[in-house]
Order: sequence, then structure tokens, then C-alpha cells
Amino acid sequence: MGGFITFEGIEGSGKSTHMGLLALHLKDAKIPAVITQEPSGTAIGRKIGDILFNRSHQGMFAETELLLFCAARAQHVREIILPALEADKYVVCDRFSDATFAYQACGRGLDAAFIKTMNDYCAPGLKPDLTLLFDLQVETGLQRAAGRDAKLADPAAADRFEREKIDFHHRVRDGYERLRQAEPERFRVIDASRTVELVAADVRRLVMDFIKNGKRSGR
Ligand SMILES: Nc1ncnc2c1ncn2[C@@H]1O[C@H](COP(=O)(O)OP(=O)(O)O)[C@@H](O)[C@H]1O
Ligand SMILES: [Mg+2]
Repeated sequence: MGGFITFEGIEGSGKSTHMGLLALHLKDAKIPAVITQEPSGTAIGRKIGDILFNRSHQGMFAETELLLFCAARAQHVREIILPALEADKYVVCDRFSDATFAYQACGRGLDAAFIKTMNDYCAPGLKPDLTLLFDLQVETGLQRAAGRDAKLADPAAADRFEREKIDFHHRVRDGYERLRQAEPERFRVIDASRTVELVAADVRRLVMDFIKNGKRSGR
């Protein structure tokens, strides 16, 4: 029982939207699940997230960014994820170690081997059983993210990632595709260009299949 499911994909691909919808579905179905996200899944992680996403921190170096995300993950894994899995719950997490590879290795150009070592250090022996990759054209994702930000109290709320040049986002998307090719049995690609309803139906089907059939990869 229990299992670890992650949502990955570029900015604006719909991860948070579908986390919310899936959470409602799992609650209705009385499936014991913890819905969480990185880096803000813990109180300490929220403080780290405030540093990472603060718009005045434009001068943050890639190395600093990597270590902050990893610090948040080290806390999140120990405080939230492992205890929930040990209690036989499902954990659904918005972004995890794959994002560090896609953003900090492929996007920022930091050393991929070092990032693997860091990911393993932060989450020893823990790997998602199922990863849903929300795939979408970079331009569409950024447009959607900009539309989301415009509804916030501060309409200029784009963070350092959303402000990156388009090439950065292409490298991130390509990074996710490389991860998928390396582990096709763990990943399921979702065509996130469709309506929320169609995407939600896919998410529900894939997650419910996983729950019925047990875990996919070793943990
Ligand atoms: N399938 C969709 N079609 C149109 N807009 C969408 C779709 N999915 C999400 N959105 C909108 O796009 C924006 C970004 O979605 P969000 O879930 O915040 O993405 P992410 O968490 O992946 O960055 C939100 O305003 C959301 O309402
Ligand atoms: Mg989100």
C-alpha cells in the first residue's frame, strides 16, 4: 500500500491546477493521501521558498539556488514524505528531484553528476513510483503562467524562473524529455495543451490505475 507520485513539467503546464483537482478526487474516493509540494511542503521549506522566489533576489547565483532547493527537499523528505509512506499513505508531490535536474542541470548548466549526488543525499533511497510529466509548448506555458500572475494581488508577480529567457525554458523542457527517455517505465507524459477537463481525466485515470495495480518502480 501507499506510493510516491510526482508531478513535473515547465512553468504554467498545469501542475498546481491538477494537484488541486486530484486532491479533491482522492478525498472523495477516501484514499489516504498527502498532497504536497516543493520547496514549500514544510514550514522551513516555505521560508526557503521566500528566499528563492523573492523578486528582489535577481542576483542569486545558480549554485545558491541549487543548495536552497536541496535544503528544502532534505527537510521535506524527512518531515513529510517518508513518514507518510511509512504510514502506507500515497504522497503526491508537485515537483521533486527531476526538477532539480531539469532546471539546475539543463536550465542553469550546473554539473549533472553533482546534482545526482545532491539529489541522492537529500532523498536517500527515495524515488517516485510514478511521475506525471505535464508536457506543453514553452510559449503556451509562459502565457498561461503570465495569465495566472496577472490575477494575483501583485500583478508583476513573475518570479526569477518565469523571467528567464525562452531558451532556458526550452532547455528545461528538453531536460524533462531526457529524463523520460532514461526511465520510460516511471514516466507518463500528459499532453497539457488540452482543456483542464481532458487533462484532469487523464491524471485521474493514470493515478487510479497506479493505485489499483501497486507500485511501478523500486523505492
Ligand atoms: N488545460 C489548461 N488550459 C488552459 N489554462 C490552463 C490549463 N491548465 C491550467 N491552466 C491555467 O494556466 C495557469 C498555470 O497553471 P498552473 O496549474 O499554475 O501551472 P504550474 O503549476 O504547472 O506552473 C493557471 O492560470 C491555470 O488556471
Ligand atoms: Mg505550480
